[in-house]
Amino acid sequence: MNQWTREARYRPLSDLAPEVYQLMKEEVRNSPWRFSFHIQPPTGLLNDPNGFVYHNGTYHLFYQWFPLGPVHGLKYWYHMTSKDLVHWFDEGAALIPNDDPDSHGAYSGSGFVKNDQVHVMYTGNKRDAEWNRHTSQIVGHLRSDGRIEKHLPPAIPEVPTGYTEHFRDPKVFQHHDTWYCIIGAQRDDLSGCTVMYQSLDAENWTFMGELNTGYDQFGYMWECPDYFELDGKGFLLFSPQGISPENDRYQNIFQSGYLMGQPLALPELTFQHEDFVELDFGFDFYAPQTTLAADGRRILVGWMGLPDISYPSDRFNWAHGLTLPRELTLENQQLRQKPVRELISLRKETLYKQELELVDQLLPAQAEIFELELSQLQLSSDQLEVKLRVSDQEQTVLRYDQQTRRFTMDRASSGAEVPALDYGTTRSVTLTEPLHTLRVFVDRSSVEVFLNDGEAVASARIFPKTTSQGIVLTGDATAHLAIYSL
Ligand code: FRU
Repeated sequence: MNQWTREARYRPLSDLAPEVYQLMKEEVRNSPWRFSFHIQPPTGLLNDPNGFVYHNGTYHLFYQWFPLGPVHGLKYWYHMTSKDLVHWFDEGAALIPNDDPDSHGAYSGSGFVKNDQVHVMYTGNKRDAEWNRHTSQIVGHLRSDGRIEKHLPPAIPEVPTGYTEHFRDPKVFQHHDTWYCIIGAQRDDLSGCTVMYQSLDAENWTFMGELNTGYDQFGYMWECPDYFELDGKGFLLFSPQGISPENDRYQNIFQSGYLMGQPLALPELTFQHEDFVELDFGFDFYAPQTTLAADGRRILVGWMGLPDISYPSDRFNWAHGLTLPRELTLENQQLRQKPVRELISLRKETLYKQELELVDQLLPAQAEIFELELSQLQLSSDQLEVKLRVSDQEQTVLRYDQQTRRFTMDRASSGAEVPALDYGTTRSVTLTEPLHTLRVFVDRSSVEVFLNDGEAVASARIFPKTTSQGIVLTGDATAHLAIYSL
């Protein structure tokens, strides 16, 4: 988009008269494809979830935000709060990039609780007169007015020797009374990795070194790392850039996934692990972040979008949303991701609930925004198809092949405009268990599919007409089927 000159992309929100911004918000609010139950920006572009933390009965979730348009420009942190991970309240902009070290963006970072107060650590992005990038890591705390107060100068003012200025997205965690932070980095040889720092007070940080994963040439940059332990296993999440497609894997422009292994050895920084696994086999998923819930559950939220891809909502001056929160569990030594149980409270009306003997059924239920749950599936035909948001011209197809256990999401006809066509219109995964359960959440412009109680998950943006509301099931099977409006 040509109007988005560098100058336009680095204009602060405060340049706009409040009435002009109000008008912009209203136009976005009335535009097509706005989500009903997902976090989305009031105007402009949303990207990574940031600062996700629970404190005193409230979840805080921030996101990367460029207010003025559907492009990556001067990034703020926008603040949302919730009591239940489902209903979110808009708290407005929390982190304003108006100091020298973050003058070109308050980039991604994490949240943590210290001294009974929410704190954050994020990357200050600064460009000099020659447009060279300078990154630093800044700590701050959340004030009672919902704004983040920065503790300047930056806690980590420089990039250590051996790494480029692509050095960002600190994730802070505590282990045995010591604070650690893990940062996404690029080595001088232009390969991606993560490095770690430690601290006794989460303000004064000491460089420890590179986290040793053995993945020495795996893309040119690792963004948004996260580390946590679950039932005795260690998980390193990150979003590597520059990985080539490999059969069904790595189909999107950039990937997000994890290494599962023995708990990270500290301070040695060795991590023994299995192969990299993608977190989501869909089209639109990036930069996920986790936090611990009140009751000890590990919850993950991702950006339901990708960098460098344009979407049909762009022309209405907004882009992207966050995924639904997922609970991570370890079952049979495998990571599972389930929609958090609180999401049941979204169900409004039961549109359909029956034991089903299914051979080519156009269901009586029609819906635009809904949840579909198919369980105890016993398939006797080779294939099962579930078609959503169906009309004469449009459909989004979920297809399962019994012989190969391959599950495919096909958005070739999901709407008049399909994003990222260069990257293809289908995504597939091969399941380890035969398909027995399918849970699908459909919002005005998204589909999230959870297979076999979280064995695999796929997220996709779709841009159908409002009137495409048919639901069609094809196959020879018995199952329980329930459809709820949301
Ligand atoms: C990931 C990312 C982060 C960075 C942020 C800037 O999408 O590139 O690495 O901090 O977005 O918005």
